[in-house]
Amino acid sequence: MGKDKVNESPLSDLPGVGPAIADKLIEAGYADMMSIAVSSPRELSDVAEIGEPTAAKIIQAARKQADIGSFETGTALLERRSKIGSITTGSKTFDELMGGKGFDSQAITELFGEFGSGKTQLVHQMCVNAQLPKEKGGLDSHVFYIDTENTFRPNRIIQMAEAYELDPDEVLNKIHVARAYNSSHQMLLVDKVMELSKEFSPRLLIVDSLTSQFRAEYVGRGALADRQQKLNKHMHDLLRWSDLNNGVVVVTNQVAAKPDAFFGDPTRPIGGHIVGHTATFRLYLRKSKGGKRIARLIDSPHLPEGEAVFSVSEIGIRD
Ligand SMILES: Nc1ncnc2c1ncn2[C@@H]1O[C@H](COP(=O)(O)OP(=O)(O)OP(=O)(O)O)[C@@H](O)[C@H]1O
Ligand SMILES: [Mg+2]
Repeated sequence: MGKDKVNESPLSDLPGVGPAIADKLIEAGYADMMSIAVSSPRELSDVAEIGEPTAAKIIQAARKQADIGSFETGTALLERRSKIGSITTGSKTFDELMGGKGFDSQAITELFGEFGSGKTQLVHQMCVNAQLPKEKGGLDSHVFYIDTENTFRPNRIIQMAEAYELDPDEVLNKIHVARAYNSSHQMLLVDKVMELSKEFSPRLLIVDSLTSQFRAEYVGRGALADRQQKLNKHMHDLLRWSDLNNGVVVVTNQVAAKPDAFFGDPTRPIGGHIVGHTATFRLYLRKSKGGKRIARLIDSPHLPEGEAVFSVSEIGIRD
């Protein structure tokens, strides 16, 4: 984000926000009244390097100016939702589980499951499928991929592209991959994606894995609140990207062993409710017999819960 943004930004109207502070806020992704209005003094004092009382005053003023009471009519909402696009998973039964066409835009889909359950394989497949023409289940678009575990494999993309008889070089050229070295870097990369989206108009953003860096850095009960707060902001940044770009967001998440669970599933996704409540769709992936995988739809605003069996093979994700 350049400095020219500051001049046209309404932030300088806020008391106590000079160009330097406005710059810092915009850099950190607080570029409009609303994002400041809903932030906490602590958060804001961190990013703008100001005292918490000053931050609180800025938030107060932003709340007065932000259009907090904006309601959308049902008609406008219907109009916006009519523009939802989707990307096929590669498996017909899996697509059907998701309402027929795969993963939707204007939404975050969370894939959680244990190691080897197929999360990374599926997001690789999505990178290829996003590039298919609409009549073949894609959105004919570029892809952004935030890789936190160094598991993005161009060779796997080539295999999957060839299986569709797509030009592998062209496909690889439209996937923009960045390694995230820690959780703060991971969050900053979403801002970067936001900026680059003007240039490439991507319709798919992958974060694989959403939680691994957070899990490694915020250790112990004392760090839990901080971790959840950061994850919450991260998820909302992703949601904002998906709304602004009418894009599909897919994030992966591991499961933590829950030693005290005697009943039900002895695993639960990292990040718990924070991630779960912000994700629009939650899918639990698990291994099954003979190389098959099962996807279970856990949470969805308008689809019934259910399961789909799919396979991971040399050519990718299929029925
Ligand atoms: N080329 C391939 N052909 C067939 N199956 C493959 C191929 N590549 C990977 N797989 C299958 O996918 C599995 C790995 O799945 P994946 O990496 O997606 O797991 P994950 O859910 O991302 O795990 P983690 O939590 O460790 O990141 C392998 O164990 C293998 O069964
Ligand atoms: Mg993985």
